[in-house]
Amino acid sequence: MKITVIYHSHSGKTRMVAEKIHRHLGGDLIEAVPHQQYSTLSAVTKGCYRALKGSADPVTPDSISLEDTDLVVLACPVWAGKPTPVMNGVLRVISGGGGKRVFMVVTCNDAKSGHQAIALLKSHASDTGLVPSGEGVLDKQAVISDQAIIPLIERIRSAGTI
Ligand SMILES: Cc1cc2nc3c(=O)[nH]c(=O)nc-3n(C[C@H](O)[C@H](O)[C@H](O)COP(=O)(O)O)c2cc1C
Repeated sequence: MKITVIYHSHSGKTRMVAEKIHRHLGGDLIEAVPHQQYSTLSAVTKGCYRALKGSADPVTPDSISLEDTDLVVLACPVWAGKPTPVMNGVLRVISGGGGKRVFMVVTCNDAKSGHQAIALLKSHASDTGLVPSGEGVLDKQAVISDQAIIPLIERIRSAGTI
């Protein structure tokens, strides 16, 4: 089973989680970075506005092939109750994902907000042909707790082997 973890992280929490998943499960780890990086202020103003509209940011890398991947993990923070515009951008640049399983992870302050964002991410990912096979919401306590992250990694492992 080959896993590709694709993540966006603005302030580092999601990166920590993505790196941990990658350390345990191997495969590829890809960080998506917006062409126009957000500052603390522009994340709140422009970033939230774009998240609310469902806009997709141009990202680097500008193409991601999933041809040789069995399971894709998409991980991002929640902005304004939505997936980030950077993650929306990721869904524009992936190819070869048709029929491939996807496990979605969001990090957030508040789990309720995370569940809202996951529902949207699931729908966007399905639109690209990916098949949702699991999800995880890490709120501000869970994101720094191995007691939450390790079971999540085991769920991702199972999603890849079923
Ligand atoms: C611009 C912005 C908007 C946010 N909006 C929400 C939100 O609507 N709901 C929530 O629970 N957390 C929200 N957060 C908190 C982040 O989702 C949370 O801190 C996340 O773990 C940060 O991940 P990162 O360090 O990988 O960027 C927001 C943070 C930022 C910077």
